[in-house]
Amino acid sequence: MCGIVGYIGENDALPILIDGLKRLEYRGYDSSGIAVCDGDKVFSVKAVGKIAELEKKINEKNPLNPPFEGGQKITLLPKEGEGGFNIGIAHTRWATHGAPTEINAHPHHDCTGKIWLVHNGIIENYQQLKNHLLEKGHKFISETDTEVIAHLLEDLYDDNITETLKKVLKLVKGTYGLVAFHNDEPNKILVAKEGSPLVIGLGENETIIASDVSAILRYTKQVIYLDDGEIAEIKGDGIKIYDANDSEVDKKVNEIEWDMTQAEKQGYPHFMLKEIFEQPETIINSMRGRYIVEEGKAKLGGLDNIADKIRDIEKIIIVACGTAKHAGLVGEYMLEEYAGIPTEIEYASEFRYRQPVIDKKTAVLVLSQSGETADTLAALKEAKGKGVLTLGIVNVVGSSIARETDAGVYNHIGPEIAVASTKAFTSQLTILALLTVLLGRQRNMSLVTGKRIIEELQVLPEKIKKILDTNENIKKISEKYFSMKNFAYLGRKYNNPVAQEGALKLKEISYIHAEGFAGGEMKHGPIAMIDENFPSFFISPRDSVYEKNISNMQEIKARNGKIIAIATEGDEKIKETANDVIYIPKSLEMLTPILASIPLQLFAYHVAVLKGLDVDKPRNLAKSVTVE
Ligand code: F6R
Repeated sequence: MCGIVGYIGENDALPILIDGLKRLEYRGYDSSGIAVCDGDKVFSVKAVGKIAELEKKINEKNPLNPPFEGGQKITLLPKEGEGGFNIGIAHTRWATHGAPTEINAHPHHDCTGKIWLVHNGIIENYQQLKNHLLEKGHKFISETDTEVIAHLLEDLYDDNITETLKKVLKLVKGTYGLVAFHNDEPNKILVAKEGSPLVIGLGENETIIASDVSAILRYTKQVIYLDDGEIAEIKGDGIKIYDANDSEVDKKVNEIEWDMTQAEKQGYPHFMLKEIFEQPETIINSMRGRYIVEEGKAKLGGLDNIADKIRDIEKIIIVACGTAKHAGLVGEYMLEEYAGIPTEIEYASEFRYRQPVIDKKTAVLVLSQSGETADTLAALKEAKGKGVLTLGIVNVVGSSIARETDAGVYNHIGPEIAVASTKAFTSQLTILALLTVLLGRQRNMSLVTGKRIIEELQVLPEKIKKILDTNENIKKISEKYFSMKNFAYLGRKYNNPVAQEGALKLKEISYIHAEGFAGGEMKHGPIAMIDENFPSFFISPRDSVYEKNISNMQEIKARNGKIIAIATEGDEKIKETANDVIYIPKSLEMLTPILASIPLQLFAYHVAVLKGLDVDKPRNLAKSVTVE
């Protein structure tokens, strides 16, 4: 999804902007651009493709010698801004309105070329505003919705860009994370937020603005999170923040917990592989301090202040997208079987538009790694509007979803950089298991059962390490199958969602067609596709549905379908039916998804590498889906 970086400070803006854009690359984009200002003229470059293309074009235009290579400190502009501050804005664009071309790439500017801005989000009434501005003689260059804001600013400009922006934003409908400057007022940069994340990083004699903290971390850990409706006026000597009613607000300065090494590859060829191998540790981090074994209880600090309300919950609706939705599906099975709470799971994109009937004893639980997924955020707001208790399981601290929910639990797994979600999924499952224990023990769950779940959770990291040790075997299996064009993934009960997640992992990074089915559904239609070139993954550990899985495997085998089974260590019988077997250690049935998903992550990874694909940044995808 689109990324924003902005800068005002004593250092050269350009290298900081480029570095920031590179740190946002993982979010997915198709073009990029920068604009820096010296109070006299604006230097702007845009490019289609990777940031490397943008750097190349900057070099071509750069009047200085030696050319810009990225990272090094150079002074691109001969003159510093008024008050000795340099200003710049930068953007990575993921096309929504208009093709990914240089013209449509941000920053955009007004007719005079003095007002520049970058924008994430969608201006819903842009066509209407554009028609009005065209009638008044404004000349538009791009097809974007964003450009309309630059022309509106020009149209209403009254020698104070801050006051003008306040007026403009009253006319605009939609979502925005916005950073803008006016070349005639080069001592300030403006930031505004509505439904799209923006963070202000407070460095020494400099302020860095970004849509994601990873672009800021290298410079400072002190940040201010803007809330919806707020506008910040950042000058070299201070920041003023106004709310939607134009009252100045005092904002808390937060300290970011993550550090740079957490965001780097640490010797792994890809972030995805690093993140898969981090899982023994991330599971520990997700559980740390969150249980009392002897009492068979879970304690989730983020839910403490709503402890009474939790006791009264009679129904839970889990809302999420993609991988987080698959985690929620496992959560539904856990909460119903062990906590006895009726639970539903729903796609956030559906929940937000239908008319869900929710009573006051229902809690809505949203799951989101990024905490910024537009559909999930909108669904959350829909639930809040109905006055029900809203809970979250979120990884990114201070993200919009984390702030909007009544209470919640953080994953504590550090940044997930690869577009394909891996460690967030297993962490979400771990926290859902802890939540099940917490809610179950308030209801009918016995001490013995509570203890049993926690003890099993405690040994999961060691079991995950054992699976990771079989990586070479998984790689060999992927070499055997990577040229196949279709895959089925099958599982029952707790492992039905794992089948869906396994298929999603394969299709998103290897572009191979893969579908996840509930094992029992195969014979109701999909089995018609099976032949010797259509292999099936079976997630069939020794659990309550093991025999049913074996029968389904026989049905596939009878149609010449190849079978790769994920089975429990010591299960020799499965080899009679499956062509290839990947073993996982035995665990409690409700926790097997945490183990069974890991070989599927590795399989998808190896297939994508064998196909020579961009594993961490698959085509057409974005890490954080901040548009509908
Ligand atoms: C798949 C994947 C996506 C996300 C989905 C929700 O690997 O990453 O399906 O799970 O876009 O994202 P979050 O969890 O950030 O709300």
